[in-house]
Amino acid sequence: MRDTVVVRDLGCGTGSMGRWLAPRLRAPQQWFVHDRDADLARRAAAALPVPATPVVGNLADVDPTGTDVVVCSALLDLLTATEIETLARDCAAAGAAVLWTLSVSGRVRFDPADPGDAPIAAAFDAHQRRGGLAGPDAPDLAADALARAGYAVRRETSPWRLAGGSAGSRPLAEEWLRGWLDAAAEQDPVLDVDGYLARRLEAPFAVEVGHVDVLGLPR
Ligand SMILES: C[S@@+](CC[C@H](N)C(=O)[O-])C[C@H]1O[C@@H](n2cnc3c(N)ncnc32)[C@H](O)[C@@H]1O
Repeated sequence: MRDTVVVRDLGCGTGSMGRWLAPRLRAPQQWFVHDRDADLARRAAAALPVPATPVVGNLADVDPTGTDVVVCSALLDLLTATEIETLARDCAAAGAAVLWTLSVSGRVRFDPADPGDAPIAAAFDAHQRRGGLAGPDAPDLAADALARAGYAVRRETSPWRLAGGSAGSRPLAEEWLRGWLDAAAEQDPVLDVDGYLARRLEAPFAVEVGHVDVLGLPR
């Protein structure tokens, strides 16, 4: 590894990954924050506490040659299996370590449970897989692709725990719930999502939304 650690954040959004990880890497760093949205890439670069360069474009065109670490968060479900496989191979060819975090796993557990949970979760997952996207298969696809590319792979669950009962996190839990239901309704218009939402909103609830982090270290 060079004196300066070169990191690429793919699908950086507003740069939450860099804000979290950069202070934890105890070394001089140069980040490249990639997004197809130019405004987001610029915002992410400005938000990082280390030197960061925005890169605007499609991830399919990213060349990780010369990169030490390739990171992403909440991205892989938006890629196809082929794109994940290609990314794993390109990262391996570059000799880069990878940390691909917060991929949805499809596991959603409510407390209290409701008979509508399972059919809505199934519709949501089908919506995530539309057009051949990885959706909730992303963690498995990523871990398998990295192993095939020769990485030592470690995966850990990293669930979001949202509590719809406490005043502080209720708005976030409700926002997540409405987004989950909108996608499910789009996928399966026959579902009674309005009835389900009304039941959920009239009582406190907690929900655990499964996410998985995958670490790949070159052997
Ligand atoms: C769900 S957001 C995650 C943002 C950020 N990583 C985070 O965790 O907050 C996904 C981001 O990836 C970007 N993105 C998705 N597919 C992309 C592609 N094929 N090429 C470039 N950027 C892409 C989107 O513009 C968006 O900013």
